[in-house]
Amino acid sequence: MSESEGAVVSELSQLAGEHDPGAPNARDAVRALRASQIREVANAGFGVADVLPFWFGESDRVTPEFIRDAASRALADGATFYTHNLGIAPLRESLSRYVSALHGATLPGHIAVTSAGVNALMLAAQLVVGAGDRVVAVTPLWPNLVEIPKILGASVETVSLEYGARGWALDLDRLLAALTPGTRMLMINSPNNPTGWTMTRDEQRIVLAHCRRHGIWIVADEVYERLYYGDGAPGGTAPSFLDLATRDERVIAVNSFSKAWLMTGWRLGWLVAPTQLMDDLGKLVEYNTSCAPSFVQQAGVAAVDEGERFAQALVGDLRAGRDHLVSALQRIEGVDVRAPNGAMYLFFSLPGAQHSLELCKSLVREVGLGLAPGSAFGPEGEGFVRWCYACDPARLDAGVERLRRFLAMRAAF
Ligand SMILES: Cc1ncc(COP(=O)(O)O)c(C=O)c1O
Repeated sequence: MSESEGAVVSELSQLAGEHDPGAPNARDAVRALRASQIREVANAGFGVADVLPFWFGESDRVTPEFIRDAASRALADGATFYTHNLGIAPLRESLSRYVSALHGATLPGHIAVTSAGVNALMLAAQLVVGAGDRVVAVTPLWPNLVEIPKILGASVETVSLEYGARGWALDLDRLLAALTPGTRMLMINSPNNPTGWTMTRDEQRIVLAHCRRHGIWIVADEVYERLYYGDGAPGGTAPSFLDLATRDERVIAVNSFSKAWLMTGWRLGWLVAPTQLMDDLGKLVEYNTSCAPSFVQQAGVAAVDEGERFAQALVGDLRAGRDHLVSALQRIEGVDVRAPNGAMYLFFSLPGAQHSLELCKSLVREVGLGLAPGSAFGPEGEGFVRWCYACDPARLDAGVERLRRFLAMRAAF
């Protein structure tokens, strides 16, 4: 080694000593994120030959054929290139007609196509939330809504729904008290995963007025809006903040093709947001995904333009599945279950659910029944388990039989 090379090496090791970078870890905010407890239960089931999985939020049926055909045609026609950041014009136009029919006039310029609902949630948060901001979320809740703002360095305060004789309900005064001036964003998911709780129009009106007063953004996760079994809403659609808000105020609605058209694996969704946000949103899409896949967007046009009958029939099947499972579970001693008005889950209590993670691991290991633990949806969910009923009634029956067997085995000890 020459003299000058030696000097460089010693300088480098000195520098390394002075600025020890430590272990190659992710940022603290990322390391602090909660890992999925549903995955933890699924992992406990590895090696169990015959599991009935009701733990994930998707149907056991494939995407309808007319949508798959549209994607095949688009691929055959060479739809393999990047698109506009905010989505292809035909899809934004179709979505504008669809959203307008459900919720009042909405222009293509109010719509951005995203890589499914979860990406739409991330983009919405990136648009309005930064480090140190305060976010409020209503829980129990699909964990992504609570964790996403934390990735951006925000703090999240939760307001829990309460479980009583009529099922899950919101204490509106508690929510309004939590929405203090200076709060940056409210994240609210209705119909709700996991509880099925669905916000009423009056509750939305009061929350919107309060948020307007204090300049608080509302990010409304409405991916289950079509999976609604209540009365009084036009076209079988749940009450939406879009019914009340103008298109140019601090309201961003998140939606997805995953639930109403059974397109979970396609990763396609959309946002409805003020036109003033769109240029900045385009930049964020560019730096996240650049665009949703071109042929998938073309399949999305088919879903929106031709999928209304399918979506309505699906809701009929889901309602039947819900009622079937509720009455089967109500016949089991110790199970407390009610039929919720929205989404596709039963969130219910049963003996042993006060330690829901352990219970779900035992259920999968001992009888091959795959349920999601309530604690996966926040501490407020402890004491419950979630069962996705979007499947063939014969499978639901087989699952109920396994639950009976498990509880009988436990009771015998
Ligand atoms: C409440 C809620 N929001 C958003 C999503 C996102 O769905 P996707 O990313 O498949 O569109 C889900 C999925 O289960 C959900 O439950």
